[in-house]
Amino acid sequence: MEKILKVENASFSYDKQNKVLKDISFEVERGEYIAIIGHNGSGKSTLAKLLNGLLVADSGEVTVANFSAKDKKSLFEVRKRVGVVFQNPDNQLVASIVEDDVAFGPENLGIERKEIGERIDFALKAVGMEEFRKVSPTRLSGGQKQRIAIAGVLALKPEILVLDESTAMLDPQGRKEVLEVVEKLNEEEKVTVIAITHYMEEAVRADRILVINHGEIVMSGTPKEVFARAEELREIGLELPPVCQIVSGLIKKGLQIEKEILTEEELLEALCELLQKN
Ligand SMILES: Nc1ncnc2c1ncn2[C@@H]1O[C@H](COP(=O)(O)OP(=O)(O)OP(=O)(O)O)[C@@H](O)[C@H]1O
Ligand SMILES: [Mg+2]
Repeated sequence: MEKILKVENASFSYDKQNKVLKDISFEVERGEYIAIIGHNGSGKSTLAKLLNGLLVADSGEVTVANFSAKDKKSLFEVRKRVGVVFQNPDNQLVASIVEDDVAFGPENLGIERKEIGERIDFALKAVGMEEFRKVSPTRLSGGQKQRIAIAGVLALKPEILVLDESTAMLDPQGRKEVLEVVEKLNEEEKVTVIAITHYMEEAVRADRILVINHGEIVMSGTPKEVFARAEELREIGLELPPVCQIVSGLIKKGLQIEKEILTEEELLEALCELLQKN
């Protein structure tokens, strides 16, 4: 498999005293869906900015599709390949009409008019917002605004989509919309996804989870591997997904149910099976 992203021994500090990221290393394969979790101030957003060259590591290296973010000449290639969606949709929408907003990035890249039109079509369709093309973003819900922010990033045709708590300000409906769009992009368009989140029920959907604490990666593995280490997670201020808490409650009450269940779907299936047996 092709490694689309390599982070090698990357360290970063804002003020030359406190290292915010310490010797971070990991690799991501094209098409992977990675979740990054860690408590407040652990360095997640700083890492997101390192990934698309908004910040450059003090030491170590970030490489995207063989372009190093350290090298000024290839920085543009890195930025083109890594799109970041941030937390607050209101800070990310710039134009007064949806289509202009989506066109903003490609226009800045100097892409020609006809191609921009095609990219707007593709991006709005990908996030299910085609009908809103001529609408003002101020009239949209939070989830819809965030989908437009994602469309704006998609119009740049990134190979890696980084979401920095992009669902945190949304209501449950908005979160669901954004997650569905991101999962579809990952599955159908093969976009590599790196989702920073503090919702453990979102992290369980990833192929792999990286756990960051005080600027270091302290765990890495599949959701099942990571959430099996409940005690260590608790020590660094992280909870288990809500479903895990229900499952361990059920086990304590004497129910014969598999310990490794992480998602609502798995829980429902296990409960139905149990009820049918009895
Ligand atoms: N622009 C900045 N200048 C100086 N220090 C900063 C800056 N941005 C972040 N920091 C510090 O760097 C550390 C890591 O911050 P960062 O925003 O990367 O963490 P985070 O994991 O994203 O936190 P949160 O979960 O709250 O979003 C914190 O101690 C923070 O105070
Ligand atoms: Mg953050």
